[in-house]
Amino acid sequence: MRIDILTLFPEMFEGFLSCSIIKRAIEKKKVEINIVNFRNYSKDPHNKVDDTPYGGGCGMVLMIQPIYDAVMSLKKENTKVILLTPDGMVYNQKKAYELKENKHLILICGHYEGFDERIKSIVDYSISIGDYVLTGGEIPSMIITDTVVRLIDGVIDSNSHIKDSFNPKTNLLDYPTYTKPREFMGMKVPEVLLNGNHKEIEEYRTKESLEKTRKIRPDLLEK
Ligand code: ADE
Repeated sequence: MRIDILTLFPEMFEGFLSCSIIKRAIEKKKVEINIVNFRNYSKDPHNKVDDTPYGGGCGMVLMIQPIYDAVMSLKKENTKVILLTPDGMVYNQKKAYELKENKHLILICGHYEGFDERIKSIVDYSISIGDYVLTGGEIPSMIITDTVVRLIDGVIDSNSHIKDSFNPKTNLLDYPTYTKPREFMGMKVPEVLLNGNHKEIEEYRTKESLEKTRKIRPDLLEK
C-alpha cells in the first residue's frame, strides 16, 4: 500500500514515521508513506496557499488550486482521496478495515479556518476523527494511517486483531490483561489466568469483554 499525505507541515510527521510499528512497516516495505507539502504546487508567485473567505469572516481559507494540482499529479486509477475535516463521517475500526483494502490512499490535511468547499469535488470520503475541532488534519491523518497500517498483513500478528476493541466481527471492547508481578500493592491477578486451563481462560475473557462493553459502551452491543 502507498499513502500520500498532503500537508503544509511535513515536520509534524517526523516522529510518527520514525518510531515503532510504523517505522518497521516502512522498513519491511509493507507500506510506502510520502509526505507531500502542497505549498510546492502553488502557482502563486509567493507560494501562497490560502486567502480570506468570500463573504467575509475570520481566518484564512485554503485555496483549491494547490491541493487540486497535488491530488491530480499523485492520483492513479485506484486511488482513494480522503479529506480530513470535522464535518466528515466519523471514523471507526470498520472504516479502517475498508481503507486497508486499497492500494493507494491520498490524505488531505486542512489547516487554519478550513478550505474552499470545492475541494470536496475531488475527494472520495470526508472523514472526521471525532466531534471536536483540531488545528489541522495532520493528527487525524496520522490516526488514519496508524489504524490502517497495523491491519496490513504482516505488520503485526494478525491473531491479535480479533481481540482488538471494535473488531467488526465482535464489536466488543478488549478484555483486561495482566503481567508480572502476580500481586502489586494488594491487587491480585485473577486466579483463572494462572491455572493454565485455556478453555476457562477463554470463557473468562469473553465474559469480561462483554461485561466491560455493557458497562462502558452499551451502544456497541445495540449495534
Ligand atoms: N480537522 C480538524 N478537526 C478535525 C477532526 N475532528 N477530524 C478530522 N479532521 C479535522
